[in-house]
Amino acid sequence: MPRFAAVPLSRDTTRRQVSTAAFPQRVKVVEVGPRDGLQNEKSVVPTPVKIRLIDMLSETGLPVIEATSFVSPRWVPQMADHAEVMQGINKLPGVSYPVLTPNLKGFQAAVAAGAKEVSIFGAASELFTKKNINCSIEESLERFSEVMNAARAASIPVRGYVSCVLGCPYEGNISAAKVAEVSKKMYSMGCYEISLGDTIGIGTPGSMKEMLAAVMKEVPVGALAVHCHDTYGQALANILVALQMGVSVVDASVAGLGGCPYAQGASGNVATEDLVYMLNGLGIHTGVDLQKLMDTGTFICNALNRRTNSKVSQAACRL
Ligand code: HMG
Ligand code: MG
Repeated sequence: MPRFAAVPLSRDTTRRQVSTAAFPQRVKVVEVGPRDGLQNEKSVVPTPVKIRLIDMLSETGLPVIEATSFVSPRWVPQMADHAEVMQGINKLPGVSYPVLTPNLKGFQAAVAAGAKEVSIFGAASELFTKKNINCSIEESLERFSEVMNAARAASIPVRGYVSCVLGCPYEGNISAAKVAEVSKKMYSMGCYEISLGDTIGIGTPGSMKEMLAAVMKEVPVGALAVHCHDTYGQALANILVALQMGVSVVDASVAGLGGCPYAQGASGNVATEDLVYMLNGLGIHTGVDLQKLMDTGTFICNALNRRTNSKVSQAACRL
């Protein structure tokens, strides 16, 4: 397989400066590959591979790497080695390594394993909430407030996810008003950032625009992130719309790995390589080294014995 060096990535990604008046000058890329990317893998990925993946990602310049989740190993066996992963990784200064915590038990285990930041994860769909975390939206918010209280006492920042913001695998359409309502509640609880998840990748630039307009009336745009799965091939287009509306935090997964075990058929997140390539092309600063990122994608794809979902990496290999 040819190396990437032959590909004129820099020609397209650094030299061309377009008018970026409508875009943020810099974007914080939140890498979710080690968690969202791996949680959906059928066979258990060895812990040293997960640790190596995170260590390689740490060297790319990414500011945030979601490392694992402290959920029930019965629900998601792939994440059962969460404590070993947290203790085995090389935590670089200036890089955050948040973990998912659905309840107080998960929060306490995460803190004991050395987590300095956590994420709670809710949804704008009742049925998805039931399938994913076995409770109603209302109950989930009660659990989250326990986590928030404990996190506040320990000075641990909390990020909040809202899933199914553009559609649900069980309920179908989800109203923008419902997304705004749940987002507002999680933000009011004290989440410093709300990541809006198109869990099944069904949204389009049209529905993204409508949903964001509703949410932005309740939560400041500076506290919003988008988390776009790419099932229908709309992720980059949806992200572009979000950027134009002022969002400057974007989740992505190296090699486009991922999905949710409780959203069958959903494919991975937008590939981080493709996101960074697009942002480079817009002259938007990320601080991420695209070549190192692609090398990391190659590493994890080799370890999982699969082809990358990153179009940029596929093109780089072909050309
Ligand atoms: P439950 O069965 O209702 O929990 O599950 P429970 O409180 O009744 O406890 C049952 C057992 O689980 C007990 O053990 C607890 O101790 C244990 P037992 O006494 O039977 O041996 N337990 C735990 N163990 C470890 N860690 C914990 C924990 N809590 C309870 N934190 C629960 C409720 C939330 C635990 C379960 O439903 C669960 O783990 N769900 C996680 C599902 C998940 O991880 N989904 C994927 C992440 S979300 C996602 O991918 C979407 C996102 O990417 C955004 C997007 O794309 O939209 C974020
Ligand atoms: Mg996801």
